[in-house]
Amino acid sequence: MSNESSEGMPGQPDRSPEDPTGSRASRRVTHDMKHATVVIFGASGDLCQRKLMPALYTLCQEGFLPEDFAIVGVARSQKSDEVFREEMRAAVQEHGRLGLDEQTWSRFGSRLHYRSGDLADPASYERLREAIDEVEGERRSESVRLYYLAIPPSWFPVTLQNLSTSGLSTKEHADRVRVVVEKPFGEDLESAAVLNRQVHEAFEERQVFRIDHYLGKETVQNILVFRLANGIFEPLWNRRYVDHVQITVAETIGVESRGAYFDKAGIMRDIVQNHMLQLLCLVGMEVPARFTAEHVRNEKVKVLMSLSPMREEDVKTSVARGQYAEGEVDGQRVPAYRYEPSVDARSSTETFVALRAFVDNWRWAGVPFYLRAGKRMCARTTEITISFKKPPLALFKLAHESLPDPNVLIMQIQPEEGISLRVGSKRPGSRFAIDPVELAFNYATSFGDAPPEAYERLLIDAINGDSTLFAREDEVEYAWRFISPIHEFWRTTEHCPVHPYWAGSWGPDAADRIINRDGRAWRNEGPGKTAGTDH
Ligand code: BG6
Repeated sequence: MSNESSEGMPGQPDRSPEDPTGSRASRRVTHDMKHATVVIFGASGDLCQRKLMPALYTLCQEGFLPEDFAIVGVARSQKSDEVFREEMRAAVQEHGRLGLDEQTWSRFGSRLHYRSGDLADPASYERLREAIDEVEGERRSESVRLYYLAIPPSWFPVTLQNLSTSGLSTKEHADRVRVVVEKPFGEDLESAAVLNRQVHEAFEERQVFRIDHYLGKETVQNILVFRLANGIFEPLWNRRYVDHVQITVAETIGVESRGAYFDKAGIMRDIVQNHMLQLLCLVGMEVPARFTAEHVRNEKVKVLMSLSPMREEDVKTSVARGQYAEGEVDGQRVPAYRYEPSVDARSSTETFVALRAFVDNWRWAGVPFYLRAGKRMCARTTEITISFKKPPLALFKLAHESLPDPNVLIMQIQPEEGISLRVGSKRPGSRFAIDPVELAFNYATSFGDAPPEAYERLLIDAINGDSTLFAREDEVEYAWRFISPIHEFWRTTEHCPVHPYWAGSWGPDAADRIINRDGRAWRNEGPGKTAGTDH
């Protein structure tokens, strides 16, 4: 495991104190970068069509790509550059954030190339090298090159190995050749460590960009800005004032066409190990000494290292898993998980998880972090709530009313993007009655435009060599170190329940028990049912 403590990376753009996450202006390419080649392995896949190509197109449209860039798609099927361009044009038209503009397309489309290849066959990499030589031409020695592994994880090892043996990964050009590795990064601690070793046979750590698209979301980056660019929150951001933290990732969708993958993974691997622990890190981390990739990631790793390990007893009492039964979501009848395509009819894979975690450090000791993630829930919402302690004296209780609600800071990541603070306010009238009201900031109202897609931000950062918003080797391993014992307990314990819940609910009652036992409740905000139902 690496524990680099060096500052930033060569060529990494500095982020100014006024713009700590490096938003629009600093998303532009570094001045000396004239040429970049992006090689996408898995160019026929969903990710490329829905996310990567539309994001690259938008970056081109907004002038964020270097003057001279090329994109080489690699996949198994045979097709010409022209056919590939047509397919990508349709993909951009369908999924692009800003629609398709002919002028931009003629510039962008002409930079797209395609090479068919079998990733297990070394000869494919020779052909790829020829294609890269062709597109980079004389600028070969100065061009930034990004390999994007948009392929199933089972293909990572052989692709990495072939990139290395063919010389395409070129460690000696570590400052300008990089690789983006998609999630899931391993399926447990052991496999993640093995994958890290395989990656390092081909690339140095500073060349590796382990992507977690949550970190590219504007509102996720805003967690840090909100905490660190405002003087008033940081003093309260600790065990003295915070009662507990809740992080919810609720989705109304099921597993869609990804049943085969999901049935092996489950939501703990799919969402909790990566997206949710990243959110927890951003909320829980100490203030980094500087805003560089290494400083920020050092602090995140410290949070993961401080997570109280899940012993068997903890898994029994503080973790609940569930699986959706049939139900109604957004007014539509939907089938039970076990009837989803490519899902085992007797599957015990979890589509819902709730857990209580503790960060054992001076800042957070004793403050529970309640996390829950679920598919086919009653509302689509990703939010973090920080509940503050009650005021020390219930002065107004004397005036006929019960204790005021505690203050709650709600960071809404999606679909509504904003931050609000719930405070108690006097209800107009002659009595001292207190009502909760919200002081609210809404991203759309304040900034107008829809925020950029996460992949836009992450792609340009990877091209620029800025790894602040990517997971480091030790970060993924420490995340697995926390999660793997839970899987191990589930695997080895007979009769460890997978609680059914109705599609369209807030999950099983078992999730409520975890939090209710502590005298607290989930913040169930959204349309539809408000309570989970075991059946
Ligand atoms: C992906 C998971 O990483 O994140 C999906 O594999 C999930 O299962 C998705 O639906 C959620 O992302 P977002 O951006 O829609 O919240």
